[in-house]
Amino acid sequence: IQGQLRPKPTPWWKAERERLLQLAEGGTPRYVYHLPTVRERARQLTAIDAIDRRYYAIKANSHPQILKTLVAEGFGLECVSLGELRHVFEVLPKLDPRRVLFTPSFAPHTEYAAAFELGVTVTVDNVEALRRWPEVFRGRSIWLRIDLGYGDGHHEKVTTGGKASKFGLAVARVDEFVDAARDLGVSIVGLHAHLGSGVETRAHWRQMYDELAGFARRIGSVQVLDIGGGLPIPYGQDDEPFDLGDWAEGLAEMKAVHPAFQLVVEPGRFLVAECGVLLASASQVVEKDGVLRVGLDTGMNALIRPALYDAWHEIINLQRLDEATDGVFDVVGPICESSDVFGHRVRLPATTVPGDAMLIADAGAYGYTMASTYNLRALPVEDVIE
Ligand code: LLP
Repeated sequence: IQGQLRPKPTPWWKAERERLLQLAEGGTPRYVYHLPTVRERARQLTAIDAIDRRYYAIKANSHPQILKTLVAEGFGLECVSLGELRHVFEVLPKLDPRRVLFTPSFAPHTEYAAAFELGVTVTVDNVEALRRWPEVFRGRSIWLRIDLGYGDGHHEKVTTGGKASKFGLAVARVDEFVDAARDLGVSIVGLHAHLGSGVETRAHWRQMYDELAGFARRIGSVQVLDIGGGLPIPYGQDDEPFDLGDWAEGLAEMKAVHPAFQLVVEPGRFLVAECGVLLASASQVVEKDGVLRVGLDTGMNALIRPALYDAWHEIINLQRLDEATDGVFDVVGPICESSDVFGHRVRLPATTVPGDAMLIADAGAYGYTMASTYNLRALPVEDVIE
């Protein structure tokens, strides 16, 4: 893969159409996850030598079989709440806690205490926590999350750096943090930064690695540099695919400049987005003022990304996969909110009728984990294709 563009691969669900139609008959809405795709993405990352350790950000999709698959592929797990930590050890009771990161934001101090108790690696991102709860942190080894002053991502709502962001310790307060840590006998063994989600600017990765290495030298005790997650995936047919080879080359160059540190990444989306589809049934087809709408039996309660970030997901009439997409529809859900739209001006067969099985693609990341029962609509069920 070095230096090569990754073309948008043929989606797995084309070959699995019959199976998906059968599953849809068993009831919709329904998420289906394709584990071979998860393994394929995992192996693309394990093939990159410059990376020393890989963690999976389970907030993207915490389905037990996805966690088991990624742990079997050598990944550790990154959690952001006590709920996620408990889930991980319930699914994988024998998992070595040293393979688990806890990277919370504004968590209650009891969650830090519980995480230390479990023996996982805890990341702290402010001085105030150390000062207010010295008994929780005294004598511990921790990672420090720094806000390098800039963020990135597919939408302003998923950018996690810079002044407007709640995440990370400001660069100007690093020395203060180091002093407070020293006073408590806290050892800073890792540095962490995460710019946001869906980061396309590859220069940013190098820059953050370089800057973290600079801080690490100043602090002295740091062994690990964690440059977060944020790898994008090509949602659109015309999206420029992320150049993983180029990304890996950049990391290798940085690694050569700063060989003293272990490089850690913690992606979520990249590993699981493409493995998942949301199956739904067309409920009604309605024309209003020249706009044709097809309704689905589920909406933003099952997949909130289009409503929340104007995110684009490919929508397919699975029933009529072989027919020409000669109609134009807005695809909407049944939720009482105007933002309950999966897609505007979507090309679908003009023959689309209520009862057709519909598929929303690339829904494996931040789909089910962000779903709700708003309007008292049921949560989707989840299936796995091994
Ligand atoms: N590490 C940290 C500290 C994070 O906050 C996140 C994501 C990740 C890793 C994984 O990022 P990824 O590789 O998945 O981009 N709901 C939004 C994305 C929110 C991401 C939150 N943090 C979406 O659907 O686009």
